[in-house]
Amino acid sequence: MAPRTPASKATAPARTRPRSSETTPEVPATTSGAVAQATTFEDVPLTAEIVAKDVSAWFSGRKVLERVSLTMPAGKVTALIGPSGCGKSTFLRTLNRMHELIPGAEFGGAVFLDGHDIYDPSRRITDARRNIGMVFQKPNPFPAMSIEDNVLSGLVLTGQRVDKSLKEQIVEECLTKAGLWKEVKDRLRQAGGGLSGGQQQRMCIARSLAVRPRVLLMDEPCSALDPTSTRRIEETIGELASEVTIVIVTHNMQQAARVSDQTAFFLAEQGTPGYIVEHGTTEQMFDLPKDPRTLDYVNGRFG
Ligand SMILES: Nc1ncnc2c1ncn2[C@@H]1O[C@H](COP(=O)(O)OP(=O)(O)OP(=O)(O)O)[C@@H](O)[C@H]1O
Ligand SMILES: [Mg+2]
Repeated sequence: MAPRTPASKATAPARTRPRSSETTPEVPATTSGAVAQATTFEDVPLTAEIVAKDVSAWFSGRKVLERVSLTMPAGKVTALIGPSGCGKSTFLRTLNRMHELIPGAEFGGAVFLDGHDIYDPSRRITDARRNIGMVFQKPNPFPAMSIEDNVLSGLVLTGQRVDKSLKEQIVEECLTKAGLWKEVKDRLRQAGGGLSGGQQQRMCIARSLAVRPRVLLMDEPCSALDPTSTRRIEETIGELASEVTIVIVTHNMQQAARVSDQTAFFLAEQGTPGYIVEHGTTEQMFDLPKDPRTLDYVNGRFG
C-alpha cells in the first residue's frame, strides 16, 4: 500500500458519542499527547475499541512496519511484545497520530476508534490525541511544578477553565486511579520532581487521565523503575483497565503475562519491516503459541 501523508487540513469532527465536553473549544495537544476536554468530571470516561487495519509505516522511505492489523478490545489490556527494533513503538505512535510528527515519517492503512478512522481527512488530529493518551518510557513531569499542578497541566495548558472545587476533584480522582493519592495527598503543593521515579510515572499516568482519554498507550512504562514501583504500576493498570482501553509495550514477559488480556508478538527479520507473527489471548500466547518463534521468544530463547 502506498504511504499517505497526514491529513492535516481536517475540519469538523464527527463524534461518535455525546460527552460533557461537546461545548468546549478545540484545543492543542498536551505534553501527554492527549487533549483536555472536561468541563465537568462526573461522567465516567468511555472506554473504546481501537482497531489497526493494514498499518504500514515508513521513515525517510524505509518501511519499518508491514500491514499490521490488530483489534484492541475496549476495556482490555493488550500487550505488544517483540525484539528491539521490530516496530512496537512505531506501531503505538500510529495509534494516536504521533507518528506523523516525526520528520520523514509516512503512514499507510487505517486506525479505527470505535469504528471511525482517526486518519480520515475529515477528522481533526486533536481528536485522536484527545481520546488516545500516551505514557512514555521515562516519566516526563514538570519537575518544578507542584504535584497537583502537574496533574492539572493538561487542562491548564490547553486553556480549560475549571473551577477550584472541580480541580480538587480531578486531582484526587486521577491520583486515586493512578494509585498515588494516599502517598501524596498531604503534599500536593510540593514539587513533582521530588517524587520517586515510580511515583513520577504514576503522576504522569494521573496527568494523562485528567484529560480523560478513552485509550491509554503505554510504551515500556516500567522499564526505568525498580521492582516495587513496577508492581505498583501493574496494579494501577489492572485497576484502570475497566475504564480505559490499554495498549502496553513491554520487554518483560512476566509483566505481559501478569497485566494483559491479549498479546501480539512483533518481529522484523533481517532488515525486513516489522509485522505481527501471532496474536491471541495472553494465556494462549504464553502456554500454547501456534508459531515456534513465539514460543522461543516468550521463553527468552531469542531477542
Ligand atoms: N525517528 C526515527 N527515524 C528513523 N528511523 C526510526 C525512527 N524511529 C524508529 N526508527 C526505526 O524504525 C524501526 C522500528 O523502531 P521502533 O522504535 O518502533 O522499534 P521497537 O520495537 O519499539 O524497539 P525497542 O524495543 O528497542 O524500543 C527501527 O528499525 C528503528 O531504527
Ligand atoms: Mg520501543
